[in-house]
Amino acid sequence: MDHRWSDMSEIIAEQEPLALHTTFGLGGPARWLATPRSVGELGRLVDRCRQEEIDLFALGLGANLLVSDDGVDGLVVRLSHSAFRQVEWPPSGGVRGAKVIVIAGAGLDMHRFVLESVRHGLAGLEGLAGIPGTLGGIIRMNAGGRWGQIADVVREVTVVDESGRTRRLTPPEVGFGYRGTRLGGAVVCEATLELTVDDPVQVRARFMEIWSRKSQVQPLGQPSAGCVFKNPPGQSAGRLVEQAGLKGRSIGGAHVSNVHANFIVAQEGATAGDVFALIGLIQHEVAQRFAVELELEVKVWGRRHARSLEPVA
Ligand code: EPU
Repeated sequence: MDHRWSDMSEIIAEQEPLALHTTFGLGGPARWLATPRSVGELGRLVDRCRQEEIDLFALGLGANLLVSDDGVDGLVVRLSHSAFRQVEWPPSGGVRGAKVIVIAGAGLDMHRFVLESVRHGLAGLEGLAGIPGTLGGIIRMNAGGRWGQIADVVREVTVVDESGRTRRLTPPEVGFGYRGTRLGGAVVCEATLELTVDDPVQVRARFMEIWSRKSQVQPLGQPSAGCVFKNPPGQSAGRLVEQAGLKGRSIGGAHVSNVHANFIVAQEGATAGDVFALIGLIQHEVAQRFAVELELEVKVWGRRHARSLEPVA
């Protein structure tokens, strides 16, 4: 182990393949992958990175992420330890319509957490049905869609800032925007959410309806990173890609979904380079036809470079 991490070798793996940790299933290794067991350990990792000028990356479920085939030269931190997956539920039996506070760890799997909140008869998260990620990742990018976004229910966010200190932020300090925040290099550790007591049968029905509508229009079971591009103001990126005639187009193993054109799915043998090439092709075609610059929603780690440039189909 590198001498800079010798005192933390128990929680650090070297050359960890990030393809194992992204929903795309693509990308090269992280030079180091750290799994801290407490906020204190996370703070020490962040502080060490700053002192040693090591790039720090926070990984959730890797659901909105495209890692380059070369991987990343830095420390990737992942809050999968149970210390970051705790939930404090309110006492049951509140009056319908009452607001309640739920304190939840950033490493929670959002899908399971949403289901659990539905089981508790708490409304507010069911609109996020079908969005993969950890709570921390969902907050960081203010994930959401037509049925709501996480910012609607966040009352406070605890982060470890770039100097390794723990800070509690109000929503204006988090700076929620469309599919983003102003959190910069801060790592989300925990969030305080305000949910509403409701009839469990009704919350469940809403969850099921949203889930089933999404699964009809999105390729939820295939390896992807969700929507690749942000919707340009007043427009739909998926519709623009479809109108540019790119639905079903492939480069190498990267394929524009036939179900939803703002999804790229990774087929067998795909590389991150194939995905970068397809992204470049889409951006070029949409700019030529509609004079619209499609901006990436997916986060890119490592050097963006296309491996194969010839469209295959
Ligand atoms: N459309 C097409 N062709 C397509 C896809 C969509 O013509 O291939 C049209 C649809 O018919 C519809 C319009 O575009 O009229 C909007 O499509 P959709 O309702 O599927 O919503 P979206 O704007 O594409 C957004 C979020 C999704 C979120 C859904 C539902 C963005 C970039 N996308 O999609 O989020 O799940 O609303 O709430 O904001 C994600 O962030 O990864 C994501 C998938």
